[in-house]
Amino acid sequence: HGKPGTVQERTFIAVKPDGVQRGLVSEVISRFERRGYKLVGLKLLVPPTDLVKQHYADLSSKPFFNGLVDYMTNGKAPVVGMVWEGPDVIKQGRAMVGATNPLSANPGTIRGDFCLSVGRNIVHGSDSAESAQTEIGLWFGGKGEVVDWSFGNEEWV
Ligand code: PPS
Repeated sequence: HGKPGTVQERTFIAVKPDGVQRGLVSEVISRFERRGYKLVGLKLLVPPTDLVKQHYADLSSKPFFNGLVDYMTNGKAPVVGMVWEGPDVIKQGRAMVGATNPLSANPGTIRGDFCLSVGRNIVHGSDSAESAQTEIGLWFGGKGEVVDWSFGNEEWV
């Protein structure tokens, strides 16, 4: 699993607190479902500070790091973490999410359709196979939290 270019490729997608507050959980899920991707992990939580610091470890020297961690962990609204599976889902998921700065995100992307601010950009998507694997392990470490299941057909009729 997590192998680039295979149908079993997996990515971590999160609806951040602003997205949950704004009622966009179903919108995000719906876009991935309708595209044909398979939901294999789903949880709602106020993430522990340690988890978010590890998740954003690459950004620890950025001026916005503490604010980012507080926004994700303060409990004003929870986070919805998901694992999505399917062909090229890491790259396609990033394309569906849109550019990090919503003002650079194309219309038709989640960010391009629903937000304006980089600090409140609704969703997160893993940016590489390596980060997908790391992030899935961080957010879905427990046994059985990611579920292997099959649509039962690999192609539409
Ligand atoms: S970098 O390294 O500066 O280029 O970071 P970037 O790729 O632009 O952003 C990485 C994640 O940090 C979030 N971000 C912010 N959060 C809060 N406040 C501010 N000002 C801010 N700037 C960037 C950005 O949304 C990215 O989050 P994820 O969840 O990875 O999309």
